[in-house]
Amino acid sequence: MDKALILSQVANALTTCSSLTALEKIKADFLGKKGVVTELLKQLGALSAAERPLAGQVINELKQAVLERIEACKETLEQAAVTAALQRDTIDVSLPGRNVALGSRHPICLATTKMVDFFKAAGFVVMEGPEIEDDYHNFTALNVPEYHPARAMHDTFYVNSPFDVKLLLRTHTSSVQIRTLETQAVPLRVITPGRVYRCDSDLTHTPMFHQLEGLVVDKTSTFADLKGLLLAFMQDFFNQSCEIRLRPSYFPFTEPSAEVDVRCVLCTGTGCRVCKQTGWLEVLGCGMVHPSVLAAAGIDTREYSGFAFGLGIDRFAMLSHQIPDLRMLFDNDVRFLRQFS
Ligand code: PHE
Repeated sequence: MDKALILSQVANALTTCSSLTALEKIKADFLGKKGVVTELLKQLGALSAAERPLAGQVINELKQAVLERIEACKETLEQAAVTAALQRDTIDVSLPGRNVALGSRHPICLATTKMVDFFKAAGFVVMEGPEIEDDYHNFTALNVPEYHPARAMHDTFYVNSPFDVKLLLRTHTSSVQIRTLETQAVPLRVITPGRVYRCDSDLTHTPMFHQLEGLVVDKTSTFADLKGLLLAFMQDFFNQSCEIRLRPSYFPFTEPSAEVDVRCVLCTGTGCRVCKQTGWLEVLGCGMVHPSVLAAAGIDTREYSGFAFGLGIDRFAMLSHQIPDLRMLFDNDVRFLRQFS
């Protein structure tokens, strides 16, 4: 047995050993069941009783020496692994932080929420209805029979219908008023925010836009309540010094009807491009619900009266943020949308 030779073999193997698995293999080669040193120990039995103690001592010293070298190598490898991990996972705390870009709510969403909050506080309930509507709820029940000229005022998108009824994309949310009258008992106060569709597209019109309508039916509903409510609403939405005026108008489903103007929120009335030098902006239609509409819903018109109003949410959003082109609201350009965060 050449102790020095075995130790140099171990040293050789260890210098090229670069992983813990390789080290395990080396350990097995020398100290394992069939390892070099183990084989030496097995041969002890063949020696004479006189030779055995010394030989045993020498082999055990060798075993100890091999084990020490292997352990030392193991420690070095483990240290190296820790250093490598530290280097790999290192973070440079002096780097500037990276911002997580938070989304923002769309201006139409912001305007809708503001309106809904106001009306909820005034005791209104939010109602929704289908965007694909039948001819009856969009027109007929609203006192607009077939061939009525008022149908031409709405550039309607018709939808191929598999049923007997004519289907269309609702041109206003007034259809939800009818659905409300059909299903809810009076007295009632509802608002109906939602998407509506008209075949129209320019600086101030898009084929899809948003409306919010309100309907109040009660024994004591008057035109004065309507005007007071609308003034309070405008002052809440635009500003406290907001002024409104009502002009006589026509809608088949309200009588009398009015168009509501607000003192131009951009020039405060002195005249500008947006109000076309008139100092006023037309923002809303309203009126007392036509008795035929109430009667068709089975409401006793001697006891109950109602008022309704409808506005374009997009137009309100445009005015409050001074957005020059309605179509910008639907381009979804993030540079535009980020301004509302
Ligand atoms: N539905 C009307 C429109 O879209 C607005 C309106 C609603 C007018 C309620 C009066 C009362 O043009």
